[in-house]
Formats: sequence, C-alpha cells, structure tokens
Amino acid sequence: GIPADIRCAQDYEIVAQRTMAEPSYAYVAGGSGRDLTVAANLAAFSQWSMYPRVLRDVKDGHTRVALGTQTFLHPILLAPVAFQKLAHPAGEIDTARAAQAMDSCMVCSTLASCRLEDVAHAAGAHKWFQLYFQTNRSDTLALLARAEAAGFSAIVVTLDASIQVASTRALQAGFRMPADCVAVNVQDASAGQPAQDIELSPGDSRIFQGVMRAAPTWPDLAWLMTQTSLPVWVKGVLHPDDARALQAAGVAGVVVSNHGGRSLDGAPASLTVLPAIRAAVGDDFPLLLDGGIRSGADVFKALALGADAVLVGRLQMYALSVAGALGVAHMIKLLREELEVCMAQAGCATLRDISSEALLRCS
Ligand code: FNR
Repeated sequence: GIPADIRCAQDYEIVAQRTMAEPSYAYVAGGSGRDLTVAANLAAFSQWSMYPRVLRDVKDGHTRVALGTQTFLHPILLAPVAFQKLAHPAGEIDTARAAQAMDSCMVCSTLASCRLEDVAHAAGAHKWFQLYFQTNRSDTLALLARAEAAGFSAIVVTLDASIQVASTRALQAGFRMPADCVAVNVQDASAGQPAQDIELSPGDSRIFQGVMRAAPTWPDLAWLMTQTSLPVWVKGVLHPDDARALQAAGVAGVVVSNHGGRSLDGAPASLTVLPAIRAAVGDDFPLLLDGGIRSGADVFKALALGADAVLVGRLQMYALSVAGALGVAHMIKLLREELEVCMAQAGCATLRDISSEALLRCS
C-alpha cells in the first residue's frame, strides 16, 4: 500500500530513500558531473511566487489540454526514464498501468528494461515512444517500426544525450547497473551511453572521433522525419535558436529540457530558458518542459512561463520504488490535485488562464 507519511507528491522523493538501494537512489537522483544543473532546475522554481486572486469563478474549471491532435485531461506526462526495473521488479509495465489509470501519457524510453510491445499493451490510449538514434540507420528504423506497430502515437527524439558524463554521486555510491536491468529493446545495449569499445587511430580524440562519431546531426533529423508518419517531437532543447530551427524543420513540438541535469553540467535550468523559447516560437507552437517538477505549484509555474504541459522524471522512479503502479498513480493524482488547488487559489479556471501575470519574481 501507500505509506502513511506520503502527503504530497514530493514526499515520494523522501520515502524512496528508504525503499531504494542507496547506490540506485544516487544513480537516479544524481546528474552529470557536480550536479550544477540539477540544483539549478530546482532553484529556478523557488524564484517565483504565485499571486492568489479573489472572487474569481472557477466552478467550471478543468485541466484539459490539446497537444497536437491529441487531447489530455491534464498536463502531467511521464518523462522517458530508462531502466525502471532499478526501482521495481515490474519496471515500465507498472508505470504504464499507472499512466493508463490516471489518464496520463507515458513516454517509453528506448532504454526501457521491459519489451516495448509489453509496455504499449499496458499503457492504454496515450503512449509515446522516446527514440535515441542508433549507431546504424537500420537499427533506428527497426526501433521506429516496432514502436509504430505497437501503437505508440508520437515519437520523442532525444538529442541532448549523445554524450553523457557519469554522475559523481553515483560513482561515489559505487553504483553498478544490476544484471536484470538491461536495455532489452536495442541491439547495442550501450546506445545512449558513452561507448567503451571504440577503436581510435593515433592522435584521435576519444570524444570527437570516439563517443561522438555516430552522433546525429541536422540531416539525420530531416531523414528521420521522412521515415515516419507519426508526429516527431524533439527533447533536450535549451536555446531559442534551436527551438526556432526545429519549428522551421516541421517538428510537432519541442521538449525544453536539460535531461534532468544529466547531460551538460552547467546548462541553465529548463524553467529559466522557457520564456525566451516561448517568445522565439510564438504562442501556438507546442512546448513541453521537464526538469525539477516536484509539485503542482511547479507545474503551475511552468505553464505560466510558457509550457503547454510538463513531464515528470525522477518522481516517477521514486513513486515506482515506493509502491509500484499504485505509487505512480497516486503520485500523478497528487500532482494533479496540487495543480488544481493552485489554479483555484490563483483564480485560474483553465490552463489558458495561467499566464506570467499570475507570477511574481521573488528572488
Ligand atoms: C532520465 N531521462 C531520460 N531521458 C530520455 O530522453 N531518455 C532516457 O532514457 C532517460 N533516462 C533517464 C533515466 C533517469 C534515471 C533519469 C533521472 C532521467 C531524462 C528524463 O526524461 C527527464 O528529462 C528528467 O528526468 C526531468 O527531470 P526531473 O523530473 O527528473 O527533475
């Protein structure tokens, strides 16, 4: 069941520290390098207060939102998070069940530890697939074909993780991926992680000619978009010029994200760059945000600063470890109610009513 000391969504972060093995918790909680961006993501939300408003009528209020051609009952999606068997033996299957029960959309990672067909089966109506470019185009196409056949309704291409540096925190805790946590859907299980087995010529850089040798570039994205009729979102964008170029390239939308601080350590907080990205792409282009969402108030602030919806990463793993599918479902329910409470108190009956005028910069 659900521990009695879980009273708000963020409590899952605290309680997970007793349900997860310490090295596993360190791996999930940590970022890359010195965790500068992990800290920035959280701090960015504290810099804003929300104005309460009086006498506004919210009795017809709701949290519905359209993203592309799909309509969702609320704006809280589950971010792609790899290797969910780290948190619970049922892994991604339980997360998918929770997403279905709570009308959320699960974004299944390329590096899932369960078969993507099984995840799709458990996920219900709303399910998207997160794609990492594979070293070979044929492997990328094979993944895409499986995702389409399994019924995923959008592709989220993550572009900020061609190279990742190990988390200092995870290394210090002695983390090693358990043997039952395997990226079962990919040929090369090291995809998305720095490859270990590269043959370099004398004078070559381990980074440029090594890890980055097969990293995607603009023509690869253009190619990918010709290979599927599904909407293609791009995740891992922080610069307004990149967002505008992706919009011009015809992507369905952009996920403003720094990979939860697990990619470039020292990148700005997602929330900090969101207003400039919204200004760059205009009012109607779909934008999602992730990084640092721990409460309904955080969701409210992200929407006020330009996001159409948010994705939740770590909270999902914490809730999964505490109570499996029930925990993830409960976490989504708590986040949604926390958002609705903020909306009611701030006098916002719909998500469209949440604007930057609802916020005050307090530090
Ligand atoms: C991630 N993230 C991620 N992103 C992605 O596109 N593919 C992936 O496989 C993973 N795997 C992954 C594993 C773990 C353990 C974490 C914590 C994160 C990033 C994720 O989708 C999201 O961007 C961040 O987690 C959002 O930040 P918060 O909500 O964790 O603060």
